[in-house]
Amino acid sequence: MHAKTLLRFLKLLLLCAFCALAANLLSACDYARMKDDEAVNTYREAMPEMPKKAIPIGGGLQELREANPEDLRNPTPATPETVALGAEKYGYFCVQCHGAKADGAGTVGQSFAPLPANLTTAGVRQQSDGLLFYKISLGFARHPPLAATVSVNDRWAIVRYIRSLANSGQIRGG
Ligand code: HEC
Repeated sequence: MHAKTLLRFLKLLLLCAFCALAANLLSACDYARMKDDEAVNTYREAMPEMPKKAIPIGGGLQELREANPEDLRNPTPATPETVALGAEKYGYFCVQCHGAKADGAGTVGQSFAPLPANLTTAGVRQQSDGLLFYKISLGFARHPPLAATVSVNDRWAIVRYIRSLANSGQIRGG
């Protein structure tokens, strides 16, 4: 290839780059105008007026973090209905790791080290409702925090369910 042809080719390349840059700048201007577009403005509404005291000032996660777990009382009634609710929710949120028999043999859990706890053992049984609630809410060691996933009421109900297992003695304990 002649040096002249090469030079011409390079000039063309430079021109292309310049055009691309210019096109970019132009489209950037379009973005700036988008806020003035009718299609956008039609849906622009003022935020609703916020009533006073709309922001919760108590009962949040921070309060739980600072609480002494032993002071937490299970607010759910100790009834078969609560245990049934806990069993149902356990089936959504815990079974994949802790297993259908709550013995720690859930399929997902097997990739954890340490393995998920056997929830029917004395080690779990001896802990207060408050401590179990605290641990599953905020997480501990390798345990996921579940406060954002499971509602407060469901967490307490699950604790009742776990305790019912531990007390029933039907399932392998230790
Ligand atoms: C993603 C897997 C996973 C899920 C989901 C899970 N766990 Fe766990 N759980 C574990 C693992 C792993 C451990 C052992 C953690 C450790 O010792 O580091 C454990 C341990 C525990 C313990 C033993 C506490 C102790 O003192 O050693 C309790 C109680 C428990 N889990 C309850 C629950 C409950 C109730 C749920 C559902 C609301 C749940 N877990 C959901 C993996 C899970």
